[in-house]
Amino acid sequence: MKFFVDTADIDAIRELNDLGMVDGVTTNPSLILKSGRDIQDVTKEICDLVDGPVSAEVVATDFDEMLSEGRHLAKIADNICVKVPLTWAGLRACKVLTDEGTQVNVTLCFSANQALLAAKAGATFISPFIGRLDDINTDGMDLIQDIRTIYDNYDFGTQILAASIRSANHMKEAALIGADVATAPPGVIQAMIKHPLTDAGLDAFLKDWAKTGQKIL
Ligand code: E4P
Repeated sequence: MKFFVDTADIDAIRELNDLGMVDGVTTNPSLILKSGRDIQDVTKEICDLVDGPVSAEVVATDFDEMLSEGRHLAKIADNICVKVPLTWAGLRACKVLTDEGTQVNVTLCFSANQALLAAKAGATFISPFIGRLDDINTDGMDLIQDIRTIYDNYDFGTQILAASIRSANHMKEAALIGADVATAPPGVIQAMIKHPLTDAGLDAFLKDWAKTGQKIL
């Protein structure tokens, strides 16, 4: 499973990228707001830092304007992936941008039928939002499983990008189901390493090592 980082925080991206944990980045208007940066500047900086796809989201809702925004964002760098919402205008823009050779991430997916439409429109990625479904008492992972089954039934090339990930457990479940990509905030990726037995085991080894009085170097 590829890891995308869901943030526009350059320092956080750099730290994980240095560990080899970053296969791409996703941003959205809320994350740009949180960064306090200009969208063009911060997106360009992320694209320069990371080799994989960097999702930058359009904000227009009508097709013509959405397409213009998408084409404009695509010029920022070769690894830009234009993010469009799961609306008819978004799917139209997806089709045109895909035909022009631009990667497209169709976002705000909350049903298997929406994901089927996005695949038909040629999306590079479909972003089902797990956490936001969990928030309304619906199991977001069931959606990932349904999309996996449908895409495999028909060999769709669209990659499932599990989004709105809120916990390390979400990462594990998405990987078990076979999501192609998971995008998560840096803190969630960092939390994946935590295990009390690792900490306790290391503590015990270090205490015993100190008793040997030896040094390795
Ligand atoms: C994905 O591309 C979205 O930016 C993101 O995962 C949304 O997550 P949230 O529901 O925690 O805001």
